[in-house]
Amino acid sequence: MAEKITELISEEKIDERIREIGAELSNKFRGEDVVLIGILRGGAFFACELAKRIDIPVVMDFMCTSSYGNGTVSKGNVNIVKDLDENIEGKNVIIAEDIIDSGNTLKALKEILSDRNPKSLTLCTLLDKPSRREVQVDVDYVGFEINDYFVVGYGLDYAQKYRNLPYIGIVEFEN
Ligand code: IMP
Ligand code: MG
Repeated sequence: MAEKITELISEEKIDERIREIGAELSNKFRGEDVVLIGILRGGAFFACELAKRIDIPVVMDFMCTSSYGNGTVSKGNVNIVKDLDENIEGKNVIIAEDIIDSGNTLKALKEILSDRNPKSLTLCTLLDKPSRREVQVDVDYVGFEINDYFVVGYGLDYAQKYRNLPYIGIVEFEN
């Protein structure tokens, strides 16, 4: 089955929104220590672009989770496949995720990271599909709310493809 990708959010719009979020985070944490955590693999693109738009010093780290039970540490539905290298105790932690769908991933991540006693925990997601939510999670910064489409690009994949598209596109399947 072949797929067709239709642009939903342009590279320019994404760039503009990330600049806005970056400016807000810079003002919020000016003079403080910040650790920005990208959630692999999808959140890596957003995390790096966001880091470039934050004008205070930022320590970057990455974490990889999976919901399929092949990790080593689990909490709720989420397994940690690759844990942080940094100790986040007493730090202002910003999580950068690609998309919040059911909410299970971010809810579990929030619990896992809260247990490590950060000074603060700020959740950022590039995309939000509110109509799909199964569990309630308070997200601090949302790039764009979208309808219930399956989207790719800017880190998001379909069968590991299309992560490198510089825009967000809707996947449609053709026979
Ligand atoms: P949640 O735990 O259901 O909120 O799932 C979030 C994860 O599902 C994201 O980090 C993505 O990996 C994946 N996901 C959800 N919706 C999409 C989509 O439209 N395209 C690509 N991946 C998605
Ligand atoms: Mg993900």
